[in-house]
This record gives sequence, structure tokens and C-alpha cells, in this order.
Amino acid sequence: MYRTKTCGELRISNVNETVTLAGWVQTVRNIGHLVFIDLRDRYGITQLSLSRDGHAEVFELAGKLGREYVIQVTGRVTERTSKNANIPTGEIELLIDQLTILNEAETPPFTIENESDGGEELRMKYRYLDIRRPLLRDVLITRATMIRAMREYLDSKNFIEVETPNLIKSTPEGARDFLVPSRMQHGTFYALPQSPQILKQLLMVAGMDRYYQVVKCYRDEDFRGDRQPEFTQLDCEMSFVDQEDIFENFSGMVKHVFKKTKNIDLPDFIRLTYADALKYYGSDKPDLRFECKIVELNEALPKSEFPVFNNAIAAGNLVAGVNAKGCAAYTRKQLDELTEFVKASHRGLSGLVNIKFNEDGTVKSSVDKFYTEEQLKEIGKAMGAQKGDLLLIAAEKASKVRKSLGDLRLELAKRENWIAPGSWSVFWVVDFPLFEKDEETGEINFVHHPFCSPHPEDLQYFDSDPLRVRAQTYDMVMNGNEILSGSIRIHQRDLQNRVFNKLGLTEEEINHKFGFMLNAFRYGAPPHGGCAFGVDRWVMLMTGGETIRDSMAFPKASNGRDLMMDAPATVDPKQLEELGVAIIKKD
Ligand code: AMO
Repeated sequence: MYRTKTCGELRISNVNETVTLAGWVQTVRNIGHLVFIDLRDRYGITQLSLSRDGHAEVFELAGKLGREYVIQVTGRVTERTSKNANIPTGEIELLIDQLTILNEAETPPFTIENESDGGEELRMKYRYLDIRRPLLRDVLITRATMIRAMREYLDSKNFIEVETPNLIKSTPEGARDFLVPSRMQHGTFYALPQSPQILKQLLMVAGMDRYYQVVKCYRDEDFRGDRQPEFTQLDCEMSFVDQEDIFENFSGMVKHVFKKTKNIDLPDFIRLTYADALKYYGSDKPDLRFECKIVELNEALPKSEFPVFNNAIAAGNLVAGVNAKGCAAYTRKQLDELTEFVKASHRGLSGLVNIKFNEDGTVKSSVDKFYTEEQLKEIGKAMGAQKGDLLLIAAEKASKVRKSLGDLRLELAKRENWIAPGSWSVFWVVDFPLFEKDEETGEINFVHHPFCSPHPEDLQYFDSDPLRVRAQTYDMVMNGNEILSGSIRIHQRDLQNRVFNKLGLTEEEINHKFGFMLNAFRYGAPPHGGCAFGVDRWVMLMTGGETIRDSMAFPKASNGRDLMMDAPATVDPKQLEELGVAIIKKD
């Protein structure tokens, strides 16, 4: 046996036992006649001690140890004289009398401690060393605990786990596919699944009734802090269900995972319509851990000559604002920063009007020329202003105002620490539209994917006003992140065809891309629906990570590269020839 105990389990009750441990040398402290070694494994750290008087040979060998050497030691557990309350093994140490060096190690390129001196790129290149740090190790342990809890819950509800293939035909989720050239049939390609969407629907046609899978999905899309080209979904599908069944089942699962992983009892999840989410929070994934709602003012504004508001209203635009509670004392500089924030090109506001409700009872604004104090108070009333509050108001196209004020409320929450540490906000967003219009091309696109079922009561607008049709689509939002999407699916061939047609697909394209699916629908497709969780995002939130990279063992860097394996990489020209692939060099 390499070891009889791990480095995390010895306690005062083990004193006088003789044990063998194996692990990595975290530190060696040599103080003349005594050597102290911190020995680390996945389970923790145990202090080893050794005196010159006891075992000269072992003492000499210990002098050769460096950081990250792999060793095996045997010794007697003793009570420490100076105890360390910060670690569970801090009351004891191991007086060693046998030491074997199992493997030497070169000095690692960064310190293997939570506060490491290595930058992210370096740590990603040596990810196997990074994972030795307790921080990342604990993330992977939590991740495994969460996935175990998901399986536990779903297994108890009669779901079965079915694996679906990775070499498939394109499944549209709105991203670009990763393609795999076929060696057998030159010029043809498999697509890696963006999700198992179609396959899980076919499993419902196959009568599997309740399916789930912890599954890798692949999307060749632009990078963001919450996206990876290769990520994990908990993918689920159920037959003979409506939205209520889905909400009940998966709210229950999320609560179970929180309880099992963090011992947190989440309250029941509210539901917010997509329309209200945009109207009140400027986002379809709002963070509700703080209030600060957007207030629309088109109706409430008192009459004045202020051209910006008057012109906006005349043009059918939106005047709306947020109440930055307790921010009336903001300086000119702080206000300028917020104005610059909403003027950034991706938000595109031209400015912000501010009204300060000072602590001394006076009201001051950037539009004092146009409004009397009484009128400003009237606006204040509409926005729930009290002494000490700062109102920030914008007037522009509704979509711009909402997006900018939505971002602004998040920015204010960050600056003002409005979010209590350890607080959670988990809820459903419902009633997404079925289609959206691409602002540049004017084309109609699906919002979620083309298999979502329209709301039966909105089917009447399908041809006359398609953008008005709501879908039976839902998201789950956790602390301002979309961690789940799903829908009730279309299970009738005719309706599915109508949706494809509305999306501008020709008969030929429909047959080429989805013929097999429509075919399956000829043979008795049950009503069905489901959802998929973004596991990595959820782990990131549960473990307090800053980006999705912090939630997985071997992530890609922000440019899509695997810095450890150095992928993607060139391949042998012979391989390309076999695949019938030629590289076209761009000048
Ligand atoms: P959707 O595309 O919304 O839905 O994906 C489901 C969830 O997966 C997560 N996610 C991602 N996580 C990391 N990196 C990415 N690139 C990435 N893209 C998505 C999100 C998202 O909510 N087939 C449907 C689900 C269904 O309708 O059942 C689907 O894939 O948390």
C-alpha cells in the first residue's frame, strides 16, 4: 500500500498511530536540527517533522527535497506544540522515520498556492499544476458534487441517461458549427453538435419519455467571459408535459443541487415575462439581487420646453430612468463617468439627464433651465425619489434606452455594493417571442431555435404579425446569468414546416437539413418539451469564479487556443490528403 491515510484526515484522535502518507512537497523549512515539510494531496496538507538526532539518513534525504517532489513517508502522529487553527490537520504533525522520494520535480513556473504569482496564461499552459492549487481543486470537487446531485434528482424522477453521438449533422442553435471532414466521403463533413437538440427530440419520438445527458456541446462563436467553444450542458427532455411540469421539475432540481452542494434552501422561483424583464430591467437576464427598476416617463413628464425629451416623445422614442438610491452626492467626475459609460458605442446613448434630491431638501438637475423645482419633484415622485437619491434619465430609441439603463443599474450596483455577498436570485423568464427581426438585413430569425412551439393563443398572428407571436420558451436566470434555456417543442410536422418556411428556408433546404426529423414526425411524435442547463456557468456561479474558464478543468483561452496542448495545430499534409482537404492560404 502506498499510503494508509491521506494528507487531509489526521486529527488529534490519531495521536500515536503509525501511518504512511504520500503526496507533493508544498514547502520545506529547515531550522538547523529540525526539518518541517508541508505535504499536500487532494485532501489537504499535513505537517511532517523530522529531527537530525532521530534519523540521520532520513534527515539527509530530506535536505534534498524541493517544491513539488513526490514523496512517501511513514511516521508516528504526535500532537503539535504550536497548533494551526487554519487547517483541519493543524493539531497534529507526523514525526517521520521513513522517507522515499517517489519522483523529483523541477521548480514549478509559479507558486502552487491560492495567491499564486503566475498570470492566467502561464497557469493555463501548466493547467495540471494550476489544478493542484486548492482553489481550483475545490472548484472541480464542487462541480462533481453538483453533477452528482443533478443525476441523483433526475434518476429519482425516472429520467434515464442516454448518450448521443458527437459526429452528427448540424443542429442549429444560432452559432457556427465545428466541422469534421469525412475521410470516406471526400467533400462531406460531420458537424459537432451545438447541442443534442434534435436527437433528444427523436428520443421522445422513440418513446424514451424522460431523458437527460451530461453532454459536451461545441459552438464556434465569438468569445465572452461566459462562453467557451466547448462546454457542458445538462440536457433534458420530457414527453407529455406542458410548461408547468417543466418549471416544477427543474425548479425542484435546482433547489436540490443548492441544498446538496451548499446547504442552501432557495425560496420558490418567481416568473418574469420577457416583456417585463426588458421593460423594468433592460435585459432578458436581469440581476434581481437588488431593486433599481427602470421607470418609463413618457406619460409622467411635466410639460416643459426641454427639446431632448419633447423630441424623443414626438418620435415615438422612450424617456426612462433609474433611481440611484443614496447617490445624490455624486461629483461631477462620477456623473461624467456614468455618462461615458452609457455613451460607449455598444450602448449608444447620447447623454444622461441627472436630478439630485439632496439631503438638505434642495433639488438640483442638469436641466434646471427647463424645469421648475416643483416639476422636478413631480418626476421624482414618479421615480420614488427620496432625499439623497440621484435620478438618471435617458431619451432615445426604446431598445437603446433599455439596454443602456439595464447596464447602468448593474454598474451602479457594482460601484455602490448593492449586492449582498452570498445572496442568490434564481427565477424563470417566460413568454419569449418566437421570432425576431435582424435589424441589419430585415430577415426574420428564430429567437431560441426553430423547434420551439408558438403559444397556441398567438398562432392567429403567425402570418399577419409574426413578431407578435410568443413562444413557449423559457430561460432560468441565476444572479444575472442565463443558466438554462428550453421550450415546449413543436411536435406536428405541418407546424414545423410553417416555421421553417417563415424562417425563409426553401423546401430543398428543409429536406436537406431536417428531412430526417420531419420524417420521424410522421410516426407519432408525442407532445414534448425540455431544457438544457449551462453546467459550466452554473458551476462558475456556485464557486464564485469570475469567468467560465474558472469552472472547468481544461478550458480554452480567450482566443480559442488550448495553451497547454497548443491546439489547434497544423497537421501532417498526408492527413489532409487522406481527408481530401486543401488549405487555401489567404494573402
Ligand atoms: P441554449 O443554446 O440556450 O439552448 O443553451 C443552453 C444553455 O447552455 C449554456 N451555453 C453556454 N455555456 C458556455 N459556453 C457557451 N458557448 C454556451 N452556449 C450556451 C447557457 C444556455 O442557457 N438545445 C437548447 C436547449 C433546449 O431548448 O432544450 C440549447 O442548447 O447557460
